[in-house]
Amino acid sequence: MTTTRARDPSQPTARAPASRLAREPASIRLAGAELLDSREILPGQWLQAYRAPGLVAGARAGQFVHVRTGDYSGLVLRRPFSFNTIDPVAGTLTIHFRTVGRGTEWFTRLRPGDRVDMLGPLGRPFEVDPRTRHILLIAGGLGMAGVRALADEAIRDGRQVTLLFGGAGARDVYPSSLLPDEVEYVVATDDGSVGHRGFVTDLVADYEAWADQAFACGPLPMLRALAGLAASRRRRLGVASLGRKRGGGRPIPAGSAQARRRAFLQVSMEQNMGCAVGACLGCVVMSTAGTPQRVCREGPVFASDEIAWEGGW
Ligand code: FES
Repeated sequence: MTTTRARDPSQPTARAPASRLAREPASIRLAGAELLDSREILPGQWLQAYRAPGLVAGARAGQFVHVRTGDYSGLVLRRPFSFNTIDPVAGTLTIHFRTVGRGTEWFTRLRPGDRVDMLGPLGRPFEVDPRTRHILLIAGGLGMAGVRALADEAIRDGRQVTLLFGGAGARDVYPSSLLPDEVEYVVATDDGSVGHRGFVTDLVADYEAWADQAFACGPLPMLRALAGLAASRRRRLGVASLGRKRGGGRPIPAGSAQARRRAFLQVSMEQNMGCAVGACLGCVVMSTAGTPQRVCREGPVFASDEIAWEGGW
C-alpha cells in the first residue's frame, strides 16, 4: 500500500482538471477513536472494534475510514479500511484487515483503551433501490470487509440477503458466526476444502434471477468477471428490468447515485491509496466515458458498467 502526504483537496491537479471530477461528498470528520476489542479471526486477519460516535453518525455501507498509524518516519501515514460494521446507536464501528506490512502490524499491537486518529466517512456508499427485496452480496477474500456492513443495513430494512464468499481454502473462510443469522451464506474454495470447489463467480448463476441487485468486493479479476456477466444480462436482471418497464428510458446522469441505484451490479473497488481525499490521484481508474475516477472520492462504489475494465489502469 502506498502512502503520500495529503495535499489540499480543494486544489485541482495538473493530471485531471477538477471540473472533470465529481463534487466532494459532505461531512467528513476527523475523530479520535478508542479501541474496544481486537482479535485475530483468521490467520493474519484481524477484526477490531472502535468507539467513534462522531464519525459513525451518518456513515453508510461501502464507505471507509483513513486511519493514522504509528509515526515511524515523520510522515503522516494512514491506512484505508472499509466500514466492516457500523452501529450508530452505540457509536461504534469495526474494521477487518490482513497484516501486510509494518503499518497494519502496528494496529495488531494496539490494546483496548488505545486511541487512533480516524478520518471519515470517506467515499461513496452502496445505493439500494427502494424496490429491491433480494440482495446478493459477493465477496472474494478480504473483500468481505467491503460488503459486510451492507448485510446489516439490508436486514435492518427488511430485505433478504444471500452472501457468496470465495477463498483459497478452509483457513481463509470468513466465520459464519460473525454474520447475522438471517444471511444465507454460501462458500466456494479453490481447493474444495469447504463448500463449492472453484471460484465464487461459479455460484452466481444460481442466484442471479433471484437477486434484485448484486454488490461485490474482491480481487480485480473477480470484479471484472462479474461485470462481464452483468453486462451480458443487462436489462434482464433485477431492478434494471423493473426500471425499463417503468419508464426507465429517461436519461440518468452517469456516475450519479441514481445510476448506481438502478444498476444490477455495484462494485467496491480496492486500489492503493495515498491521501484518500482526492488530491494525489494515486487511486484513479478510468470510466467507460474515458474520464478519470478517483476510487477514494468518486468511488469506492461504482456501477459495474461505469468502469472500463480493460483499461489497464
Ligand atoms: S488516494 Fe489520493 S486521490 Fe485517491
